[in-house]
Amino acid sequence: MKKFYVTTPIYYVNDKPHIGHAYTTIIADVFARYYRQKIGKENVFFLTGTDEHGAKIAQAAKKNNQSPKDFVDQISSQYQAAWKALEISNDYFFRTTDPDHKKIVQDMLQTLYDRGFIYKSLYKGIYCVGCEKYLTEDEIINERCPHHPTTELAEQEEENYFLKLRDLAPKVLEALETERYRVLPSARKSEILSKIRGGINDISISRTGVDWGISVPWDDKHTVYVWVDALFNYYSATRIVSQKEHFWPADLHLMAKDILWFHALIWEALLLALDKELPKVIFAHGFFSIDGQKMSKSLGNIIDPLELVNSYGTDGVRYLLLTSFAFGNDGDISLSKFNEKYNADLANGIGNLVSRIARLCEQSKHNFIPIFKKIKYQSDLSIEKAMAEYRPDEALKIIWNQIQEFDKDIHNDQPWTLDGEKLQQTLETYVRRIVPIAHNLEPFLPSTAEKIISIFGADEIVKPKPLFERKK
Ligand code: MSP
Repeated sequence: MKKFYVTTPIYYVNDKPHIGHAYTTIIADVFARYYRQKIGKENVFFLTGTDEHGAKIAQAAKKNNQSPKDFVDQISSQYQAAWKALEISNDYFFRTTDPDHKKIVQDMLQTLYDRGFIYKSLYKGIYCVGCEKYLTEDEIINERCPHHPTTELAEQEEENYFLKLRDLAPKVLEALETERYRVLPSARKSEILSKIRGGINDISISRTGVDWGISVPWDDKHTVYVWVDALFNYYSATRIVSQKEHFWPADLHLMAKDILWFHALIWEALLLALDKELPKVIFAHGFFSIDGQKMSKSLGNIIDPLELVNSYGTDGVRYLLLTSFAFGNDGDISLSKFNEKYNADLANGIGNLVSRIARLCEQSKHNFIPIFKKIKYQSDLSIEKAMAEYRPDEALKIIWNQIQEFDKDIHNDQPWTLDGEKLQQTLETYVRRIVPIAHNLEPFLPSTAEKIISIFGADEIVKPKPLFERKK
């Protein structure tokens, strides 16, 4: 693999970020950092950003008595601040209100129109502003959208431009069947396959009642449907950011299952119609609840990632979110168990291990620099396998097993009973062992890894302040 381009969804700016958004973004960050180690920094492009157009955002701005532009600037910067606090290493932060993006979307749309993939027709349907889409009959339960039960559904009838999705669907199906692109996990692929085989209708890709968006280039009474505008971000970024053209197609589009359909069918249809290469992997992880309940405004259980960072620190949050449930599956985040887990795995686990070794090294007064300088990072095959199978949580488990094994070995060696040559040799093996663990940990807990490496790479090793302060 020569390059790796990974993306998160671009998040809606109708409200500030929460830990659902943080989860996907941390996972993407882990992949980006892992591949930077593997194939070099310059060969990785990691994109995240905000989705800033559409009726939902315009309504939120109005409710807040702000112009849409002021409103989106404010929320988008809250996303950027949250990602900074979580040490997200994105190479670029995409905003759909960027004028360069507007131009690219308009060019793409014009091409689709010129190639005959777009036509105008009357549309009548039930629209959910929360989802930013027309609902089909089976998606409406008790006259409500199950995902947005407090949103009034409105019947809309208007002239729209349509994409000939029905004609494009067989081509998408063939591309998925022949693995020109992959949808993962495989159970999700089966869902997508059967949905496409069940028959696809054309979709409306413009609106007349929504001003906050990109205008359709040949008919400025219409605004480009926000999902079409948003999906193009992945491609646009490779044109807008200098010297990133060669990163297209994306290697990994990450998201949760809620928006898989847009990425697994509509995005591919648009790209195929434009003769563009398809992304390699679309990975949809599960949805998580908080202490057994769906995160929602009405339940008041929406958690701000910054609050969690205040309690557990950046790496604490990254660790606790990454290990809460199996990546790919639906899960639950049990906040009540965070303190216990933090103490067991971080304060007593890696934190204690590092300070034990550092203290022994300090007391030995030995010089470890020559040993440190000779350490070579060999790739760990089990971690490589886990990452290649899109199991970052599994890779982290492997590292934690190594930490536990290490603890046991120290217990058995009883280095505090040793002295002279024997003590020196034992401590040298520890330094040779802890530094690669830190290296493997870097994609997951970047600042902890950096601290460990600088403790053991220092001219004199001294017992550091606790890496993780124990919680009472
Ligand atoms: N703007 C669109 C995406 C456009 S991409 C071209 C959108 N935005 S969103 O703000 O609603 O973000 C949805 C994404 O947030 C999910 O796909 C997932 O990545 C993340 N999550 C939000 N809540 C989550 C959970 N409770 N659990 C897991 N992921 C969560 O859709």
